[in-house]
Amino acid sequence: MTTTHDGASRTKHRKLLAWVDEIARLCNPDRIYWCDGSQEEYDRLCDEMVEKGMFIRLNPEKRPNSFLARSHPSDVARVEERTFICSEREEDAGPTNNWMAPDKMRAILRERFRDCMRGRTMYVIPFSMGPLGSDIAHIGVEITDSPYVVVNQRIMTRMGSAALEVLGEDGEFVPCVHSVGAPLQPGEEDSPWPCAESIEEKYITHFPETREIWSYGSGYGGNALLGKKCLALRIASVMARDDGWLAEHMLIVGVEAPDGTKKYVAGAFPSACGKTNFAMLIPPKGFEGWKVTTIGDDIAWIKPNPKDGKFYAINPEYGFFGVAPGTNATSNPNALATLRANCIFTNCALTDDGDVWWEGLTEELPEHLIDWKGEDWTPGCGRPAAHPNARFTAPASQCPSIDPDWENPKGVPISAFLFGGRVSKNFPLVFQSYNWEHGVYMAATMGSEATAAAIGQAAIRRDPMAMLPFCGYNMADYWRHWLRIGRRNVATPPPIFRVNWFRKDQHGRFIWPGFGENMRVLKWVLDRCDGCGSAVESPLGWVPFYNSLIWEGLDFPRERYFQIMNIDREVARKETNDQEELFTRFGDRLPRELEIERELQLSRLFHSPKLWDLSAAVEPTRK
Ligand code: GTP
Ligand code: SPV
Ligand code: MN
Repeated sequence: MTTTHDGASRTKHRKLLAWVDEIARLCNPDRIYWCDGSQEEYDRLCDEMVEKGMFIRLNPEKRPNSFLARSHPSDVARVEERTFICSEREEDAGPTNNWMAPDKMRAILRERFRDCMRGRTMYVIPFSMGPLGSDIAHIGVEITDSPYVVVNQRIMTRMGSAALEVLGEDGEFVPCVHSVGAPLQPGEEDSPWPCAESIEEKYITHFPETREIWSYGSGYGGNALLGKKCLALRIASVMARDDGWLAEHMLIVGVEAPDGTKKYVAGAFPSACGKTNFAMLIPPKGFEGWKVTTIGDDIAWIKPNPKDGKFYAINPEYGFFGVAPGTNATSNPNALATLRANCIFTNCALTDDGDVWWEGLTEELPEHLIDWKGEDWTPGCGRPAAHPNARFTAPASQCPSIDPDWENPKGVPISAFLFGGRVSKNFPLVFQSYNWEHGVYMAATMGSEATAAAIGQAAIRRDPMAMLPFCGYNMADYWRHWLRIGRRNVATPPPIFRVNWFRKDQHGRFIWPGFGENMRVLKWVLDRCDGCGSAVESPLGWVPFYNSLIWEGLDFPRERYFQIMNIDREVARKETNDQEELFTRFGDRLPRELEIERELQLSRLFHSPKLWDLSAAVEPTRK
C-alpha cells in the first residue's frame, strides 16, 4: 500500500495545491499520493500491480524489469466518438470534432467524477512535455486513479519532483484529470483492468479556452496518458495557433550523409501508418556510410526561428508508445533493441518462457501462447495472439538510433515535411508539391485506410495532416494557420512531399518493400532540398524519374516502379472531385487557396491523357 503524502511538503504552488484539494473533494479517493518520479517509486508501483494481477512480470532473463498488461477487451484503443472539444462556440471546434457546450459538459463531468475514486489512490503526476526547463517545454499535472498511467507517464514524460521544481511557486501548468471510472465499494475486489466498460460512459474532453483536460472511463494509451494526444496535440495545437508555432502528429528524423552533412525531416502519417518505423529507419544496402537518427516518433512541436528564418522542432515526449504487431528484427531492428529491458507491453501475447510475442515478431509461430485476453492460443486457432493495436512503452534513451540532439531544447532545423497515408490503390509512392500552398492542400486532403489505433474507424477517411483526431480547433482555421506560418514566419518554407508505402498489387500484396527501403525515397527528398534531384511534372506534383532514385542493393525493376508511379486520370479526378465534400463542410471558413488548388488540380487532370504515364517522360542522364 502506498503512503499518503502531504502536498504542502512537496510544493508551495498555491494554485496547484488548491486544485489538487478541489479534485480530491470531488473524486473522494482513499489516499492522495504525489509522484516523485524515482526508480524506487516506479518499482514499488509495478510490484503492487503485479500483486493485484494488473501486471505480469516478464522473465527477467529474457526481458529485465519489464511487464505485460492486458486491458479490458473493450478498452484497447482511442475512442474518437467519445472525444470532445468543448470550446465556447461550436464553430471554433469545427465540423470534424465532437463538440459540447462547456457548461453542459462540466455538468456531466461533475456527475461522472463525483466519488469516482472511492477505494482508490489518487496520484498527482507533475510532468514536462519537452526537456525540463526548456523555453519550448510545457508543464502539465495529471491527476489519475490508475497506477498503470503513473508508470507509463514515467517512461513517456519527464515526470515527478524535477517537473514540480520547474513549476516553482507560480508557474503555469495544464491541469489534466483522469479516472478509470470504476469506484470500488468497501470490500469489493478490484478487477485487473478497471474501466467504464460501455463506450457511452467514456469521456475524453478538452477545454481549449481554459486549457484543461478531463478524461473518464478508459485506462488506455491516448485516452489516459494525457500528456500525449490530449496535451501535446489537442491543447498544444490551440496554444500554437495563438502563439505562432505548430503542434503536429509527426516523427522527426535526422539523416547524415557520408560527407558528414546532416538534415532533419518531419513526417506526418496517420496512427499506425509508419511513423515509428520511419523514425528508426536503418539505411539499406547501397547506402553505406549513411546514418539515420531518431528525434521523435509521434509528436513534433515546431517553432519558427526569427534569427535564421527556419523551423526548429523538438520531440515533447520522453519515450515511445509504439505499435507492437509487425515490429521485428528485419522491419525495425532499432525498435527491437529499444525493447530489450525496462518496458511495459500492453495487450501483447505471453510466451511459455515468460516473454512477449506478437504477430510478425518471428516468422515461425510459437507452439503455444497465452493471448492478449489471457486465453490459450495455438497456431491456426483463428484468433490473433496479440491485439492488432498492442503497444510497447519504451524509454527513448534506449533507442540505438537516438539522435545526440534529441534533448536539445533549441530543437533541430527542419528541411522538409512528409505527409503519408495508407492507400492501397492508385496513389504514387512519392511526389513533391509545387509550392507551400499546394503542399498545404496536398496535406489537407490526405486520405487513409482504417487501422486498429482507434475504435470504430471508417474503412477509408480523410485525415488532414494526420491530425483529424488531434486538432483542438476548427480544421479550416488550422489550415489557415499553416498557410500563414509558411508565408510569414520563415524565410523559405520547407518543401512538402506526399508519400505512400502501402500500395498493393492485384493479389493484395504490398508492391513497395517499405521500411529500410524507404531510405531511397528519403534520399530523393533530400536531393530535392539541395536542388539537385531530378523530377518531372505530373498532374499531382513533381515526380521522381526511375533513375532519380538510387537502386543499388535492391531489385526493383523499372516496370514495377511505373506500376506504383503512374496516375489513372479518372481515379484521380474522382478523388479530386470528392475533396469538395470535405471543403464544403467548412463553409466560409475554408481558406480560398485550398479550393483554388483543388480546381487547378482538376484542370490539370482534365487535360492530361487517361493514364499519366511516367515511362513516356524523357529521363535525364544521371551525373
Ligand atoms: P502511431 O503510434 O499509432 O501514431 O503509429 P505509427 O505511425 O508510429 O505507426 P508504426 O510505425 O508503428 O507502424 C504501424 C504499422 O505499419 C506496423 O504494423 C508496421 O509494421 C507497419 N509499417 C510501418 N512502416 C511500413 C512500411 O514502410 N511498409 C509497410 N508495408 N508497413 C509498414
Ligand atoms: C495514435 O493512435 O496515434 C498513437 C497511440 O500514437 S495513442 O497514444 O493511443 O494515441
Ligand atoms: Mn500517434
